[in-house]
Amino acid sequence: MAYTSFFRDADALKAVEEIVIPALSHQREIRVWDAGCATGEEPYTIAILFASKLGAFSFRSLDILATDHEESSYAQFALHIKTGAYGRKDIFWVPQELREKYFKPTDDPESFLLTDEIRDKVRYIKHDLLSLVPPESGKSLIICKNVLMHFPPPQQALVLGMYWKSLVPEGYLVMDGNQEMPEELEDRFQRVERGAPLFQKRGT
Ligand SMILES: C[S@@+](CC[C@H](N)C(=O)[O-])C[C@H]1O[C@@H](n2cnc3c(N)ncnc32)[C@H](O)[C@@H]1O
Repeated sequence: MAYTSFFRDADALKAVEEIVIPALSHQREIRVWDAGCATGEEPYTIAILFASKLGAFSFRSLDILATDHEESSYAQFALHIKTGAYGRKDIFWVPQELREKYFKPTDDPESFLLTDEIRDKVRYIKHDLLSLVPPESGKSLIICKNVLMHFPPPQQALVLGMYWKSLVPEGYLVMDGNQEMPEELEDRFQRVERGAPLFQKRGT
């Protein structure tokens, strides 16, 4: 099963918090795709960031589609979807203020429940990125961290081309800090800020 965790990749999350969320906050629909979500901690992290930054009215506009192709990851994600339960170690990297707000204590001091407000924002479907068929379109933000490294460069470029199609004009793509934008896609995505793994769609 793939490794992931809450609040992984601080640079990417900082860019989401400081650039993407303010830019999207006035949209009527904020449609996010988390591609390669593993066991789900990443899409829930994104939902927590939006919840902590947006007022209740704007937060209603958020919809997060989480996808992955791996059955074993989904089996674990499905348990969390069903119960919302996480252990103390699972939520270690969640900043304390957000942990107190979005994870409720239970009778068991080692177990916490993710609030419904966050759980309700994330939908999962099984999807193979290499099908190159986007599961949905009209996305304002795509998150794809620690996934493309598993593909050879020509496939990375094809998957990024699929992301370009799935994004609205000026939509955002967040990757991990190690992922470069292939040269042939530089006319499709521009880097938003030097050093941050955040790109914005060029063209329509
Ligand atoms: C290392 S995990 C990254 C999880 C999360 N994005 C993060 O950064 O914490 C990589 C994930 O990519 C998924 N993945 C790899 N190839 C894929 C494919 N062809 N289609 C969909 N998901 C894929 C794996 O199943 C795994 O869950």
